[in-house]
Amino acid sequence: MRVFSIVCVVGLLSTTALAAPAPMTQDSGAPVGDNENSKTAGPEGPVLLEDFHLIEKLARFDRERIPERVVHARGTGAQGMFVASEDFSRYTKASLFGQAGKETPVFVRFSTVMGFRGAPEAARDPRGFAVKFYTDQGNWDLVGINEPVFFIRDAIKFPDFVHANKPSAITDIQDPNLAFDFFSRTPEATNMLTYLYSPIGMPASYREMDGFGVHAFRLVNAQGQQIFAKFHWKSVQGIHGLTLEQQQTADPNYATRDLYDNIRAGHFPKWDLYVQVLTAEQVAQLPYDGFDDTKTWENVPETKVGTMTLNKVPDNYFQYTEQSAFAPGVMVPGIEPSPDKMLQGRLFAYADTQRYRVGTNYQELPVNRPLVKVANNNQDGSMSSTPQVGEVNYEPSTAKREGAVTPQPSFKLSEYPVSGAAQQNAIAKTDDFGQAGEHWRSLGKDGQAYLIKVMASDLSQVTDHGIKLRQVSYFYKADRGYGTQLAQATHLDVTEVAALAAKEMSH
Ligand code: HEM
Repeated sequence: MRVFSIVCVVGLLSTTALAAPAPMTQDSGAPVGDNENSKTAGPEGPVLLEDFHLIEKLARFDRERIPERVVHARGTGAQGMFVASEDFSRYTKASLFGQAGKETPVFVRFSTVMGFRGAPEAARDPRGFAVKFYTDQGNWDLVGINEPVFFIRDAIKFPDFVHANKPSAITDIQDPNLAFDFFSRTPEATNMLTYLYSPIGMPASYREMDGFGVHAFRLVNAQGQQIFAKFHWKSVQGIHGLTLEQQQTADPNYATRDLYDNIRAGHFPKWDLYVQVLTAEQVAQLPYDGFDDTKTWENVPETKVGTMTLNKVPDNYFQYTEQSAFAPGVMVPGIEPSPDKMLQGRLFAYADTQRYRVGTNYQELPVNRPLVKVANNNQDGSMSSTPQVGEVNYEPSTAKREGAVTPQPSFKLSEYPVSGAAQQNAIAKTDDFGQAGEHWRSLGKDGQAYLIKVMASDLSQVTDHGIKLRQVSYFYKADRGYGTQLAQATHLDVTEVAALAAKEMSH
């Protein structure tokens, strides 16, 4: 049952509370007579291998864990509903945006990025904000975070970024020396670091943060016209952050408790979904690269297209939250990728890891299964469970028998021009510091003081003078005041920072 209405939630809770214990069975369905005493040879004799229930129970227990997500391992899921607020079909034929009032069930998973499963939730880390829409044209996964930009702009750097930020390969403890070693050679991270260490970089709860799709996506309407779009979830609860002191004393499970307590109390959190759109020509005219995910689209109006309400705590953590599989490549007609080099890499990485992490047929699991019937010739593999009918498991075919499938030409992917030489080059308009400086200046005195304090607390742990110097020189390039305050807070010589910044400017 995937329509998560409030009535349904209340109904489920009361049924669960009143239900008599079910007669216990083995996995095979056979009744279990004794679940507390193993079968032994005599009262003190060894345990018998013939106690199949015991062997199966231990074997199943031995296999209870699947590999945790390589990133975003600590997370919390919830179910709910997205309701479109207007007809957005002038830009996209995606059916979920086709008319005001249209309802689409959703599953959302919030997460931290670098910690292991069970790691404390109050980490200075972006928050994952992944939404699976179960639309009537298949699933759409909007796999975003609580910041509008990212640390890097090319997927080829992602494994290095993660290695440097995950616990050390020797100590298994996160180490700012490794993280800033990487960041001090990654100037494009300056904007995202400024968001991460700002007051909203440490959300007071999952309810009180926004979400962003980060990349540009290509929207296609029924006439084949295309436009680029960015998605933004705005929290109706407002945005609030924790201070350094609140973070240091926070309950390790503070975010999950807050979300589930609120949903169970009937205080269902809501987010409005906003969209920015730009034509290809407008993107080309931006002073920065509009497909660079380290940049926001500045001063582009946002249109509200709907509201999401989370109203149900999933019945089982493992079956829903742990086995959920979100992937940026999971799209519906009317939503397609942009040329963003990060997004392009993500299109491959998620389904690949999910085939390994969960298993080949992970999309058959209830949390991942679309509401619509799946019909194609992909088959078999471990844990295949959807009934396969007929023997026409290929296409094209002249057969009109059960099992035969045929493509739907009206849903062919869009066409667009491409040009230029194949190459391995950085983007032309890198502009690594401009938006970071603007963002710093927009924070105001209190926000700036917060940022300096929390960033200095991490940066002060870096022992290598050169790494610290180079890192702070990036913030100096973003804004002199920013770099100067940070240099002072981390006991660096401001003239040395300024000299390095000036030297690099001239390159
Ligand atoms: C090329 C860059 C990236 C790569 C290769 C990558 C790869 C991955 C992988 C392998 C997972 C684990 C998926 C799973 O086990 O189910 C993951 C999870 C996730 N990633 Fe990325 N990622 C990248 C960039 C990003 C960016 C830019 C964002 C945000 C806009 C993001 C947001 C997320 C979220 C929210 C999850 C957790 C999804 C969930 O709750 O299951 N990632 N990523």
